[in-house]
Amino acid sequence: MKKIGILTGGGDCPGLNAVIRGVVKGAIINRGWQVVGIEDGFDGLLDQKKVRSLTLEDVRGILPRGGTILGTSNRGNPFSYPVEKNGRVELVDISDRVVANIKQMGIEALVVIGGDGSLKIALELQEKGIPIVGVPKTIDNDLMETDVTFGYNTALETATDALDKLHSTAESHHRVMIMEVMGRYAGWIALESGIAGGADVILIPEIPFDMKRICEGVVARRSRGSRFSIIVAAEGAFSAGGARVVKNKAEETHSLERLGGIGEFVAREITSCLDMDVRVMVLGHLQRGGSPSTFDRCLGSRFGIKAIELIEQGEYGKMVCLKGREIKSVPIAQAVKKMKLVDPGGEMVRTAEELGINLGR
Ligand code: F6P
Repeated sequence: MKKIGILTGGGDCPGLNAVIRGVVKGAIINRGWQVVGIEDGFDGLLDQKKVRSLTLEDVRGILPRGGTILGTSNRGNPFSYPVEKNGRVELVDISDRVVANIKQMGIEALVVIGGDGSLKIALELQEKGIPIVGVPKTIDNDLMETDVTFGYNTALETATDALDKLHSTAESHHRVMIMEVMGRYAGWIALESGIAGGADVILIPEIPFDMKRICEGVVARRSRGSRFSIIVAAEGAFSAGGARVVKNKAEETHSLERLGGIGEFVAREITSCLDMDVRVMVLGHLQRGGSPSTFDRCLGSRFGIKAIELIEQGEYGKMVCLKGREIKSVPIAQAVKKMKLVDPGGEMVRTAEELGINLGR
């Protein structure tokens, strides 16, 4: 009987439980394998008390639930682990301890569900001899080699729904409403929800914006009789010649920099060039919560089963992925080489501009 481990790393997103359920069912029902769940991402591999058996009973009823029954963490990279020494935080490599723990627990293969950060760690563990299969997760949709990551579709639905709701209040008060969305360095959520939600301006990191162009756009709309405007700003967007707006630098978090504040930045700039009432709404972590959409439940389940098939075939170091309508696999190394960003000259951007949406350029 094979014993496999599963963990969820990085920020949570809708559909994680669908993948966990798929892996557990795929392992147990037809193969009779044993599955153990590792709590709180890679942190759980430091402490054997954080590893527990997962049965069919444990995954009953979790398909519609947001979050992850295993817990997660976007800190705790074992290759660069923050340890306090003499009142200062130092980053140390504790990966040997993790590898020893995995071997001691008899885990023969590890399913890592994560975004680029977690999959890079997974790849390093694979290089240290741990058989790994990756599953691409993130609301940001910024992973290469898969048409889409699970979680993205639900986040988009949340953002589009918020835009629909903002429209009525913006129109009633004749205001400029700015909605700041997540996505890190990629503009996928902003661009697609902006198109679907009928935004007037969309700001994405891939197209540094010019404030003058945005103000001209809002004024032109007003002169056509539309006394309100809706702006969607990706958290990673920045003005041409300017810098990204961050809440915490990477040195402060000992992990990734925290983006946030572009909505307020744009609001200040608009107020200085227009005499209109401006309000900012930061959609924030709502985008990561809630029940997964039908699409994400199905994609997550398909990814989970594919992960089991890869383990059965001994295809390690691979990430499951969606290509067209089919589930396939690619080397993890290929998927984490670079980020999948919006093409500023691509069809989606062209569509937005043809629809009259101002992209600040
Ligand atoms: O990567 C997912 C994501 O939600 C990003 O869009 C966002 O920048 C970040 O995580 C927020 O992370 P945290 O949960 O640490 O605030």
